[in-house]
Amino acid sequence: MPIGPVRPVRPVRPVIPVKPTAPVAPTVPIVPVKSMVPITVSFSEIDDAIREAHLAQKEWMRVPMIKRTKVLHLAADWMREHEHYLTTLLIKEIGKSQEEAKDEILRSADMIDYFANEALNLKGEELSGEAFPGYDQTKMAIIERVPVGVIVAIAPFNYPVNLSVAKLAPAIVTGNAVLFKPPTWGSISSLHLTEIFHRAGVPDGILNTVTGSGSTIGDYIVTHKGVDMVTFTGSSAVGQLIATKTGMIPLLFECGGNNPAIVLPDCDMEATSMEIVKGAFSYSGQRCTAIKYVLGFEQTIDKLIPMVVKKTKEHFKIGDPRIPENNMGPVISEEAAEEIEKRIIMAKVNGAKIVMGGKRAGLYIEPTILDNVRPSMEVVRIETFGPVVSFFRFKSVEEMVIMINQSTYGLQASIFTNDEGAGIALSKKIEVGSVQINSKPQRGPDHFPFLGIKGSGVGVQGIRYTLEAMTRPKPIVLNKPH
Ligand code: G3H
Repeated sequence: MPIGPVRPVRPVRPVIPVKPTAPVAPTVPIVPVKSMVPITVSFSEIDDAIREAHLAQKEWMRVPMIKRTKVLHLAADWMREHEHYLTTLLIKEIGKSQEEAKDEILRSADMIDYFANEALNLKGEELSGEAFPGYDQTKMAIIERVPVGVIVAIAPFNYPVNLSVAKLAPAIVTGNAVLFKPPTWGSISSLHLTEIFHRAGVPDGILNTVTGSGSTIGDYIVTHKGVDMVTFTGSSAVGQLIATKTGMIPLLFECGGNNPAIVLPDCDMEATSMEIVKGAFSYSGQRCTAIKYVLGFEQTIDKLIPMVVKKTKEHFKIGDPRIPENNMGPVISEEAAEEIEKRIIMAKVNGAKIVMGGKRAGLYIEPTILDNVRPSMEVVRIETFGPVVSFFRFKSVEEMVIMINQSTYGLQASIFTNDEGAGIALSKKIEVGSVQINSKPQRGPDHFPFLGIKGSGVGVQGIRYTLEAMTRPKPIVLNKPH
């Protein structure tokens, strides 16, 4: 195991399952990603894990919060200590660029620390009955925040460390136990993360990792009677499916984005075009917060497209991300690459113009800019999880708002303008979780609330918000004698 101790630690605990099919070597071997697909756990192993989780959780919730936060801080230190190894693994396993992979590891360590610090501020309250008509001071409620119990956490391939941390750290620090299903692509990075938590002192039974594809074990996990909450990041289609199956338990989902950007004529076009380039093509467009379509007046779009083309060429170098000069790698799988290519071809067949890119070589898709797209085309109607952005011309801002609000998605939207007041006024009309003025959509900073409406999610994440979502108020009502 390459992760050496930075401080004295408890004995190593095996994760469940204990044997990923590929050996985890001290240096990252250059082998095809597909040989690293993990084993699938059996349903009886899942039953065992959930049973143990319930037993362990009852003990863990009684451990003082300050001790639980110390475990998290140790895990964060450990991630920083092994940043280089973890970054290299991430590049190799999911094809992120060096900068993106390193950022994911360091951001995760910071996030763990922040969760631990913020957990110390999580408070209950005391309420007196006297504030409501007909009651007096003889009735009062002592309201504690208690953990929900055993939480299923399902993480996506595009942030196998960071979006796992966003679920595991808050669940653990608030005294819950977790049944963690890592993404199939990215599972080795996720397994390293769980090993870090174990070595930092997370006790047996609190973090139980079950590997296997969603189609094989997903249903069994989310419908298990022993599960008290499900937190999931992934596509809108899978999110909808899980939501129909879980029954009456809390859900915390981040799903597809398909995010628009409105560009108003008064914006700083240089800065805006750069934000669009990064927003559309970072990590090959495989971010739920990626920009998928741009809306503006005819003249604005005419001016904008050549600038976006120029900046894309200047900024991105496509190729094997293990070579540091390349900052745009492959998409995650052959299947994904074929689907993206199919949607580009169909758009072209139906009259769209490929202004730039459009070609595929294996898992590599060129950054692709489309014009003359119609809202009904699949490439823009359904989130295309790849480096493709479409441009639309409108005669009024109202028409732009209608197109955005008719979408089945509602994660984020961007507005680019130099008039902040106009940006705020327009934000109020757009039906999405958050609006960014003069920035590409993004999840961070991680203490901001992050949420999707419609097909884009359920519940609110963001450090304090996630801690609250993973605990519930428990009022104990005290009735004093008159
Ligand atoms: O893919 C979904 C992520 O939550 C996006 O996060 O905005 O930090 O890239 P990001």
